Amino acid sequence: MKDFVIIGAGDFGKEVAWLIEDINKVHNQYNLLGYIDDNKEIGIELNGYKIIGNTEYLIKMSQERELFGVISMQNPEVKKTFVGTLKNIKWETLIHPSAIITRTVTIGEGSIITAGNIISNNVNIGKHCLINLGCTVGHDNVIEDYVCIMPGCNLSGFTTLKEGSYLGTGVKVIPRITICEGAVIGAGAVVVRDITEPGTYVGVPARKL
Ligand SMILES: CC(C)(COP(=O)(O)OP(=O)(O)OC[C@H]1O[C@@H](n2cnc3c(N)ncnc32)[C@H](O)[C@@H]1OP(=O)(O)O)[C@@H](O)C(=O)NCCC(=O)NCCS
Repeated sequence: MKDFVIIGAGDFGKEVAWLIEDINKVHNQYNLLGYIDDNKEIGIELNGYKIIGNTEYLIKMSQERELFGVISMQNPEVKKTFVGTLKNIKWETLIHPSAIITRTVTIGEGSIITAGNIISNNVNIGKHCLINLGCTVGHDNVIEDYVCIMPGCNLSGFTTLKEGSYLGTGVKVIPRITICEGAVIGAGAVVVRDITEPGTYVGVPARKL
C-alpha cells in the first residue's frame, strides 16, 4: 500500500478522496492518510478523512517516510509553488477506473483523470493536470502541464491547451485550436478561433471579457 495525502482540503479535495476509494475498489493500493491544508484547522474531518497537517508538517513527514500524493487545488501558480516546495513527495497519476483511455495516450505525474472521461488516440497530457468529470478529449490533443478542464468539456481533434490554461464547465473547442497560457475560458463557451492572449473568454463564440 502507498501512503497517500491529498494536498488541499477543499471541495475538489473531497472528490479526490472519492477517486482514491474507487481506484482502491479495483486495485487496493492507496492508504489515504488524509488532507494537507495550510488554511484549515487540523483534525477537521471531511467525508471520513482528516486534515492531518500543513505544508511544514508534510515536508517533515516526507523526509522520514515514502509518501505519495496529488495537489487538488486548481490555480496553476499555486500548484507550481507546491511542486517546487514539496521535493520529497512522489506525485501519483490518478485515473478513475471508469475512464476510457486509448493505449496511445501519455499522462504526466500528478495528473488527475476523474470519472467518465473519454480520451482518444495520440493525446499527450502533461504534469499536474486535471480532467474533471465527463469530458471528451479528441485525438492528437496536447494538454500541457497544470491545465484544468472542468466537467463536461468537449475538445475536438488537434486541440492544444498551453500550460496552466483553464476551461470552465461545458466548454467546447472546435478542431485545430490552440489556447494560450493564462487563458480562462468561461463555462459554456465555444472556442472557434485560437486564443493568443491571456485573459478571460466567454460566450458562443468565445470572446474576451
Ligand atoms: C468566466 C468566469 C471565469 C468569469 O468570472 P468573473 O471574472 O468573476 O466574472 P463575473 O462573474 O464578474 O462576470 C463578468 C461578466 O461576464 C459574464 N459572465 C461570467 N461568466 C460567464 C460565462 N461563463 N458565460 C457568459 N458570460 C459570463 C457575467 O454575466 C458578467 O456580465 P455583465 O458584466 O454583463 O453582468 C466565470 O464566470 C466562469 O464561467 N467560471 C467557470 C467556473 C467553472 O466552470 N467551474 C467549474 C467547477 S466544477
